[in-house]
Amino acid sequence: MRSSIISITNSNWAIDRQQLEWIAALESGKVLHFKNLPFEINENETSLFRESIQNPKSRNISLGSDGLLKGAIGDATTLITLKELIFRFRNLSQVLVHSLVPKYAEYLKVSPTSFRPLNISHRKQSWRADDRRLHVDAFATRPNYGERILRVFMNINSNNQPRVWRVGESFESIAEQFIPKIKPYSKSQAKFLNVVGLTKSFRSEYDHMMLQIHDAMKSDLNYQKNSPQIQFEFMPGDVWVCFSDQTSHAAMSGQYMMEQTYNLPLKALYDSQSSPLAVLTSKVQRKLV
Ligand code: SIN
Ligand code: FE
Repeated sequence: MRSSIISITNSNWAIDRQQLEWIAALESGKVLHFKNLPFEINENETSLFRESIQNPKSRNISLGSDGLLKGAIGDATTLITLKELIFRFRNLSQVLVHSLVPKYAEYLKVSPTSFRPLNISHRKQSWRADDRRLHVDAFATRPNYGERILRVFMNINSNNQPRVWRVGESFESIAEQFIPKIKPYSKSQAKFLNVVGLTKSFRSEYDHMMLQIHDAMKSDLNYQKNSPQIQFEFMPGDVWVCFSDQTSHAAMSGQYMMEQTYNLPLKALYDSQSSPLAVLTSKVQRKLV
């Protein structure tokens, strides 16, 4: 299981040689872990490192692809400083992904970049929203029809505090165990959710299955405790990349992290057969989107 995280020592965000085995690992659900990428926190940014910078009503602080900052509280200088910090990470993560997998570059859709200042170990949440439980990412309001969710994370804690993750078993095994527990898909319910605005578009059977798997994993305490998994400490300065719709993950503790989400159409993949859509489709033997 330790091999579910591949550590890479590269001291530049621009990867100068394309390594097909890293891409294959990423697309098969492994986490790529970069240990030596430089990221300076400037003197004027140190005041951003406090929990109170996040609006208590928001789930996190994010910078949209439209440049709008959401979820932060502060005066104009604070907000501009924060925006610049998040922008810097957004640009570097783009350099990383473009050079790591040049083939993705033309297809990547930049989703919001987030700054997560909260200490996650004592956060109170419903089981469904609790990312300390192993899960694959699936969003209730935003159906994606099998498009991939690629994420870049960086621990920017300056207090030597790791971000502790658990990484679970392969998506194949997850699918095998949880497909039998999935409630049947209802087209009329999906239509209803869309009409009343609870989803941003029509929820496909694929999106239904992914949400059901997300919920079934999180609500199963026996699975949480006893399924194959490793725990891993991402130290301050560490950057890690994974397809979070495929890689089973849980964030146990830590504070101050940056995160960049990308959406990636299936046609950009080297091996679309390893995608959650392909895996689920081959298991149920019908069209899901
Ligand atoms: C998650 O994506 O589930 C949470 C990641 C984190 O907070 O480290
Ligand atoms: Fe997640």
